[in-house]
Amino acid sequence: MAGPILTIVGARPNFMKAAPIHRAYEQAGVPHELIHTGQHYDDAMSKVFFDDLGMPKPSVYLGVGSASHAVQTATVMIGLEKVFLEKKPRMVLVVGDVNSTMAAALVASKLLIPVAHVEAGLRSRDWTMPEEVNRVVTDSISDLLLTPSPDADENLLAEGKPKERIRCVGNVMIDTLFMHLPRAKALDVPGQMGLVPGQYGVLTLHRPSNVDDAPTFERIISALLYVQERTPLVFPVHPRTRARLSTFDLGRKLEAAPNIKLVEPLGYLEFMSLVSRSRFCLTDSGGLQEETTALGIPCLTLRENTERPITVEEGTNTVVGTDARRIREEADRILTSGGRAGRVPALWDGKASERIVQATLQFLNARS
Ligand code: UD1
Repeated sequence: MAGPILTIVGARPNFMKAAPIHRAYEQAGVPHELIHTGQHYDDAMSKVFFDDLGMPKPSVYLGVGSASHAVQTATVMIGLEKVFLEKKPRMVLVVGDVNSTMAAALVASKLLIPVAHVEAGLRSRDWTMPEEVNRVVTDSISDLLLTPSPDADENLLAEGKPKERIRCVGNVMIDTLFMHLPRAKALDVPGQMGLVPGQYGVLTLHRPSNVDDAPTFERIISALLYVQERTPLVFPVHPRTRARLSTFDLGRKLEAAPNIKLVEPLGYLEFMSLVSRSRFCLTDSGGLQEETTALGIPCLTLRENTERPITVEEGTNTVVGTDARRIREEADRILTSGGRAGRVPALWDGKASERIVQATLQFLNARS
């Protein structure tokens, strides 16, 4: 196949990974196109990232939207099969662990198009997470496994993946962070929200295990009510979370708390403006665990596990689970003693996208 290399994006966490990859291919003079499945479709969950990160419009937008996992995955597959047959890509790149990632890998692999997975090898070993299924399936059918850290290489080797297929390229999301941080800081979103730099926390929550289960969500909220008495919190609310706050009638509790600011989902630059000046973050997101590690900002992960152990071993992350007492204690520890400093892991250096271009071109040249 002689067509372009295609990178598939679908949901919010994909966009900051695809942006530097697209730029690096362009700089290398290699034909490359972005294909958007439309898994996320709100302007605030999608378009703003294309604008903020200077990405071109995707060459195809499938508009699959929200649905059950089976319907969403199947709709992405049906749409992408047509795109791949028409464009005849030399290679398909998939990033991260969302439904669109797995769907794209399955379609490409059955059409015998080489697949490279960026962010391969991460494992939470928690099979209740849809992302864990997506990661394991995607890695089993990818030809080239591009990992962010050595722990991911070890996971893949332990699963029997051949060494020649694995390349540790570092963390591509950090390319985006380092590139856009000066612009993000210049926005001064904390100032506009009346917050004092270094004296507030940023909160994000969207995992089904946290927000779809009423008792768990309520436990987390009770801990947050305690934390906001000690320091202000800003909470950009994901659409799933917004819906559950209303279904479980929990929104009123948060809205009544004087020091929690609930806001709509933010664009990349606005969000990083807030995060980069925060005292600490509370989150169940994968990306924010990594971004806080790169920024040296303490992070409390409100999950029982993480597929990103390097953020705990080397970075600023502490996995605290969803026990209200533990969350309170760890937040207090940060507020009194400053929290973990950590160091930035190797190859989280802003150059992962260049290594991805090299690794994929080497792979393709070796096959031709
Ligand atoms: C998806 C990813 C998750 C990622 C997250 C980031 C999967 C399995 N999950 O979860 O790994 O961390 O994106 O946000 O792929 N919605 C909107 N507007 C949108 C998108 C979604 O209102 O633009 C609402 C819909 O009601 C939808 C719900 O949010 O039902 C959840 O969206 P969905 O794409 O199914 O999963 P996320 O929870 O966003």
